[in-house]
Amino acid sequence: MKIYMTEDYQTMSRKAANILSAQIILKPNSVLGLATGSTPIGMYKQLVIWYEKGDLDFAQIKTVNLDEYVGLEPTHEQSYRYFMQNNLFDHVNINPANTNVPDGLVADPQAECDWYNQVIRKLGGIDIQVLGMGHNGHIGFNEPGNAFELETHVVDLSERTIQANARFFASADEVPRQAMTMGIKSIMMAKKILMLVSGEDKAEAVWKAFAGPVTPQVPASILQLHPYVTLVGDKAALSKLMEEKQ
Ligand code: F6R
Repeated sequence: MKIYMTEDYQTMSRKAANILSAQIILKPNSVLGLATGSTPIGMYKQLVIWYEKGDLDFAQIKTVNLDEYVGLEPTHEQSYRYFMQNNLFDHVNINPANTNVPDGLVADPQAECDWYNQVIRKLGGIDIQVLGMGHNGHIGFNEPGNAFELETHVVDLSERTIQANARFFASADEVPRQAMTMGIKSIMMAKKILMLVSGEDKAEAVWKAFAGPVTPQVPASILQLHPYVTLVGDKAALSKLMEEKQ
């Protein structure tokens, strides 16, 4: 595993954008696995800036997002499709047909998940998967205790995740109770992983994930078994992990 420790959120975002840019430049038809949440926003901003400068071309890029809430329409401000349009897709020359996010409004979410697995396979798999990490070590919406061997599937959100995401809704009551998420198996099948972490509140989770035992209780800990992980974090998020390594 390669670890890049940066001074702050800004430099973390820039470093992550550098790594993704290298991927895009070296393989212009890459399949990018993308994440939402607060952590990658700065990275997306930086990619848009470099696109506007003419340094990046998304014309042949394909994307698959990690997850989507069940029940939210793509235009809902808190849907992950809306997030991706707003933070990246609407600002670069990506072909809309090449962007994939599970559809939150389908009648049969599990059928949507099965279809999504086919989409990933037809694309030839994910070249690089961007991840953030929850305070409980979740990746995507794979919560502690969930099985490691699943591909895209429907999950019930934990109370902690509902509370953490409530800041984006008018109240916790409005946070959807279910989501569709790539499973740990889908994530582990990605050729490369780019994990982004920022802030002292993530330090404990980062330490457990990368210095603790590999256990479904800390879903991100499975990444210790992935052959190609790059962890980019600011020094606040990496503080506990780096203490351990000294
Ligand atoms: C987002 C996702 C989540 C987030 C995680 C961290 O697509 O799947 O696992 O990466 O909840 O969220 P932030 O970045 O908001 O701390």
